[in-house]
Amino acid sequence: MQIGLPTIHYEISGPRGCATKSPILQKTETGPRKTARLDLCDSACAPERAAYAWRMRVVKVPLGKRSYRILIGRGLLDQLGHECVKLGLGKRCAVISDQNVAPIYADTAQTSLRAAGFEPVLVVVPAGETAKSLRTVESCYNQLAAHRLERTSFIVALGGGVVGDLAGFVAATYLRGIQFVQVPTTLLAAVDSSVGGKVGVNLAAGKNLVGAFYQPRLVLCDIATFDTLDAREYRAGLAEVIKYGIIYDAGFFNRLERHMPKLLAREPQTLAGVVARCCQIKADVVAKDETEGGLRQILNFGHTVGHALEAISRYGKYLHGEAVAIGMVAAAHLSSAVLGLPATDFERIKRLIEAAGLPVGARLNPQQKQRLFDAMRLDKKVRGGQIRFVLARRIGKVIWGQHVNDELVRQALDVIADTKSQTRKPKS
Ligand SMILES: NC(=O)c1ccc[n+]([C@@H]2O[C@H](COP(=O)([O-])OP(=O)(O)OC[C@H]3O[C@@H](n4cnc5c(N)ncnc54)[C@H](O)[C@@H]3O)[C@@H](O)[C@H]2O)c1
Ligand SMILES: [Zn+2]
Repeated sequence: MQIGLPTIHYEISGPRGCATKSPILQKTETGPRKTARLDLCDSACAPERAAYAWRMRVVKVPLGKRSYRILIGRGLLDQLGHECVKLGLGKRCAVISDQNVAPIYADTAQTSLRAAGFEPVLVVVPAGETAKSLRTVESCYNQLAAHRLERTSFIVALGGGVVGDLAGFVAATYLRGIQFVQVPTTLLAAVDSSVGGKVGVNLAAGKNLVGAFYQPRLVLCDIATFDTLDAREYRAGLAEVIKYGIIYDAGFFNRLERHMPKLLAREPQTLAGVVARCCQIKADVVAKDETEGGLRQILNFGHTVGHALEAISRYGKYLHGEAVAIGMVAAAHLSSAVLGLPATDFERIKRLIEAAGLPVGARLNPQQKQRLFDAMRLDKKVRGGQIRFVLARRIGKVIWGQHVNDELVRQALDVIADTKSQTRKPKS
């Protein structure tokens, strides 16, 4: 299995006149030789800058005029300003971050932006899901206006999925839309929320009920920022990583099985390769179906039950990834019943989720099971009163829009309710 190939390539990204002008061949970690691309910018020559490009993975999101690149590597935050220069953005910008992330990373981000000639201001929002509200959006608008951000100004979303969704929505709507750059600092944001352009906030009536499709100009993912991420948050991100293997790439799933200990240890090469492969899969899916008319729905594997679990526990008990992990076990069980997913594949899915230190079941009494069932009926993906699922024929091959009768859904809920909900200590 070749992580990240063939469309991920290493890129030489040195300024004009520096030592990186000649085309270079580079052997990637896992794949064949590929020609590195020259992408010269007009800023002053700084040969040391070229060095970071060697270690950087680049994934393209091909969306015509709205195409953008995802840069993945260790230590990239220092290069934020340099990368933004290439986008031809206005001088003034706002770094939107949260109360946990800003104290650790906002200085580096702002220093890099200043060094590249930008004039950043910092907007700090509360940490956690409650910040994804129209109230916080308004507070951001007011601060942007007070700092006189204009049409050519841009926003840098520095944080996890909450900051990305919120800041992206602010960017989509402030002055009828200004540019924005995603700098994801959680694994979940890196492999999922920062890519694909879904931005938005919650209402009291439910999650993500207000939003837009609004693509960033760049995603810059410095995997070194995951060093400070809480272990539980990190593992929650692994649920989405495993999801990509199930829905799209059996070889990748296989590789995850072999390398889970390294991934749990956040080993840089493994981590960067995995993040790049996930981003590439998401980019492929989004490029084929930007606004979720069809194929993009496969990204919701495990989410019908996952979202319902989050909802009945009032978003307090499970992190999103944990709920999705349990949801994927339920979806895998349904897949066996409806599409004949082989029993060995079901076991492999469950084992990999456990190996990542994620839960495969939830303790649910009969009333809670009923509430879970009812909550699934309220899911946004329900059409005409029928719950539709993304189900797997085998690992790496899924089908979306599957009707499943209520009896089978109840059986799947029995399966996850019977399984011990304790998180197994991950092997590392
Ligand atoms: N737009 C999409 O396509 C999409 C996809 C999936 C999820 N989401 C959204 O993403 C959100 C969840 O994102 P999340 O899991 O990243 O949660 P989050 O943004 O709340 O981050 C989790 C916690 O980690 C902290 N944190 C973030 N980065 C850190 C770092 N490097 N070091 C230390 N602490 C750090 C945050 O302050 C927060 O307390 C949800 O609102 C979900 O709806 C959106
Ligand atoms: Zn998810």
